[in-house]
Amino acid sequence: MTVLVTGVAGFIGFHMARTLCRQGVHVVGIDNLNDYYSVDLKRARLAQLEHFPSFQFQQIDIVDPNALLGLFIAWGFSEVIHLAAQAGVRYSIDNPGVYADANLVGFLNVLEACRTYPVKHLVYASSSSVYGANTKMPFAVEDAVEQPVSLYAATKRANELMAYSYSHLYRIPATGLRFFTVYGPWGRPDMALFKFTRAILNGEPIDIYNDGEMARDFTYIDDIIESMNRLLPRPPPLTGEAAPCQLFNIGRGAPVKLLDFVQCLESALGIQAKRNYLPLQPGDVLQTWADVAGLARWIDFSPQVGLEQGVAEFVRWYRDFYPCKQGQQARQAKQARQSKQEARWA
Ligand SMILES: NC(=O)c1ccc[n+]([C@@H]2O[C@H](COP(=O)([O-])OP(=O)(O)OC[C@H]3O[C@@H](n4cnc5c(N)ncnc54)[C@H](O)[C@@H]3O)[C@@H](O)[C@H]2O)c1
Repeated sequence: MTVLVTGVAGFIGFHMARTLCRQGVHVVGIDNLNDYYSVDLKRARLAQLEHFPSFQFQQIDIVDPNALLGLFIAWGFSEVIHLAAQAGVRYSIDNPGVYADANLVGFLNVLEACRTYPVKHLVYASSSSVYGANTKMPFAVEDAVEQPVSLYAATKRANELMAYSYSHLYRIPATGLRFFTVYGPWGRPDMALFKFTRAILNGEPIDIYNDGEMARDFTYIDDIIESMNRLLPRPPPLTGEAAPCQLFNIGRGAPVKLLDFVQCLESALGIQAKRNYLPLQPGDVLQTWADVAGLARWIDFSPQVGLEQGVAEFVRWYRDFYPCKQGQQARQAKQARQSKQEARWA
């Protein structure tokens, strides 16, 4: 069994690859190591994976079809976990071309490779953002999803439709996962938890959109990985006429108000945040809430970890990973206070 994990230097890809390696599975991981956020963080994740003899990394861009086909020829993958994508709702407003490349062309290349060199199961990342402007709560996979409010969301919905057609035409067993706001150790610097933590520790204000009148169904990374680990050996059946294609929400099923989330982070850090209230951003949705009944039926599991526990784990990791910087900042702040005092006395 050799599993391909795309986007392996990313937040979710790193955790998935590490879990598979711990189980003794042979993992080939690819990533283009783009600089959408800190490449140092991506390399630090890879450094953790490189301890496993069953892990191999190759720097490959999924937009290059030949590089991808070469990889499939070399390894003959049994399963593919496709997580490489340009993530982020707000960035898609100003950088649409990157999303067309990575999320549409890149995904097509992955599908083509799976058609040419068949795999037992293709598991790929979609997103809760496909629910867009929907107001019926909780969001269920059976709901119509025709109002994506960002290009990012539109590319993720397009992935689901592309997967369906390839699954129908070429009998590729495919499972799409609509992730709901994933957070935890080794998380993404462009997401609220990371940004807020960094700002609060630096004594800077945090940006709170729509006066905090927003809610997210935060999902802890371990729950995402446990779900994917159970899903991987359970592809949709190849029997019958129907396309072997399925979709699941993966969320905690418990939306949290933005201001409650901030409070939870403040108590984990033991520091009060300075708040900067701003209007709703283009592309943002007001609330997300996952109906996870389908997931629970299929794998006998649904996400468990509560926000307090998950945020505490993140804060522990953050303090451990960035100790020097924080120490340096604390020293600089102390020095600044001392020089101010000295200046007053002089
Ligand atoms: N984290 C979340 O809350 C969340 C929510 C919904 C959906 N998703 C989806 O889950 C997947 C993983 O998300 P993540 O949070 O780990 O994001 P991430 O940005 O940390 O990881 C994605 C990785 O893909 C790589 N990548 C991007 N374009 C590439 C290309 N053209 N070729 C090769 N590699 C490329 C990046 O370098 C990055 O390391 C993405 O598809 C994302 O859209 C994530």
